[in-house]
Amino acid sequence: MIDDKRNSIYLNARAWVLEAGQQIRNQINEPRIIGTKSNPNDLVTEMDKQIEAFLVGKIKETYPEHCIIGEEGYGDELTSLEGTVWIIDPIDGTMNFVHQRKNFAISVGVFQDGVGEIGLIYDVMSDVLYHAKRSEGAYKNEEKLSALNEDLKFEESLLGMNHYFLCQNRMVDEGVMQQLIRAVRGSRTYGSAALEFAYVAEGIIDGYLSMRLAPWDIAAGIVIVNEVGGISTNLDGKPLNLLEINSLLTCNPQIQEQLLTYIKKGRK
Ligand code: IPD
Ligand code: CA
Ligand code: CA
Ligand code: CA
Repeated sequence: MIDDKRNSIYLNARAWVLEAGQQIRNQINEPRIIGTKSNPNDLVTEMDKQIEAFLVGKIKETYPEHCIIGEEGYGDELTSLEGTVWIIDPIDGTMNFVHQRKNFAISVGVFQDGVGEIGLIYDVMSDVLYHAKRSEGAYKNEEKLSALNEDLKFEESLLGMNHYFLCQNRMVDEGVMQQLIRAVRGSRTYGSAALEFAYVAEGIIDGYLSMRLAPWDIAAGIVIVNEVGGISTNLDGKPLNLLEINSLLTCNPQIQEQLLTYIKKGRK
């Protein structure tokens, strides 16, 4: 993608994400219309839909030739990542949005022929925007993020993960997760995959793992983490496919091999 074109897409994406965030803040104390999707804890609100409709409307109006993958169904049904593809999660961390009114993010990734070019993760209530363009570094608002710590030791690392790693599954039943948690320094659960990517990029956690994430949970994060020297794969260490559901490990490369070794023991 040529730089001028990419920069103007980035500036538009940034302006729309910030405007969407302002809409959410303006309405944060209004009563919510809460629905459920795949199960009673899989929440969706009128705001998830409003924000996706707003972003998709802006993109379609300005770039009718671009394609969109979005969580709430306002985008396109894609079978290929050819051309310019926007991958959008209007609210990542809907449960936090509903219960806490904070700790959620708007996540927007822009890919060109399958290559991540732009990533934006906006922590709406903190007004913190993590952003990156491929090969130009990653930023937290105006501050450039440092490259990830090359001296990181596995036993001193902090991992993000969600509560599924406490529930019954092969890795827990065979004790692998318990061994892993004892081997590292600690674990955190934030409830927003996008923010967990951003925290990996910021170096305030060293890895984040999940058994099941959708393309919109990870698209922007992959671009941002990549810019600080982080690495994102599935839990088998294989490349991610942005047209499918993936398992995920995004981390400081210093601990990737050891993490994958633990994970492999539990996935045999
Ligand atoms: C969810 C959040 C959560 C993760 C779930 C995602 P949503 O996204 O990222 O942290 O554990 O797997 O589905 O539904 O709030 O956009
Ligand atoms: Ca959701
Ligand atoms: Ca999400
Ligand atoms: Ca969402």
